[in-house]
Amino acid sequence: MLIMLDTADHQTIREGFEFFPLAGVTTNPSIVAKAKGDFWTIQEGIRDLIGAKSLLFAQVIGETAEEMLAEAKLLQDRLGENTYAKVPVTKEGLKAMTMIKKEGIGVLATAIFTPMQALLAARAGADWVAPYVNRIDNISGDGVGVIAAIRDIYDQAGIETKIIAASFKNVQQVLECAKLGAEAVTVPGDILEKMLEHLMTDWSMDQFNKDWKAQYGNRTISQL
Ligand code: E4P
Repeated sequence: MLIMLDTADHQTIREGFEFFPLAGVTTNPSIVAKAKGDFWTIQEGIRDLIGAKSLLFAQVIGETAEEMLAEAKLLQDRLGENTYAKVPVTKEGLKAMTMIKKEGIGVLATAIFTPMQALLAARAGADWVAPYVNRIDNISGDGVGVIAAIRDIYDQAGIETKIIAASFKNVQQVLECAKLGAEAVTVPGDILEKMLEHLMTDWSMDQFNKDWKAQYGNRTISQL
């Protein structure tokens, strides 16, 4: 399962890519607006930080399929080959997905709340679907259950569209998506940090350091 960062904050992206094995970055209009700056400076800055080979998912905001197509072309032109247009799973969005794919541009169908939407997006040619796990949980739904249903539908029908599970508020949600075979997750910086943290790891490192220092002082292996 690939791991992406769900943020437009350059510092979070810089640090994330320095330390974690990340495959790309996703943003949406709310995330970009929160970064408070010029849209292209934010997006081109992200591309510079993650390099040409990492995946970058940027959302269109046009209301009609034609507007979405024009935006998808612009995003691809300015942000490079490994850029996917995030297109909402609406009627205009479905139409746009087919049109964008015909132009050879990658598509991520976003704002997925039901398995049926994921099926329609796949049939419209989407490369990725982004079901919103925590937002589904917050309306008394079963976010992980939606991932499971999409996995079943795709596997039974031989659909190759990939699942990038999105909208997370805790690590357990991420773990369940990994177990179900989602091809990717996109997580905010704080969840990424929490995926690594464990008190027993910290305790073990303290123990190792204490025992090492008792025998070898402050010297590292290369100083012995
Ligand atoms: C990503 O594609 C989604 O836009 C994002 O994960 C939504 O997350 P939120 O529900 O935490 O806003």
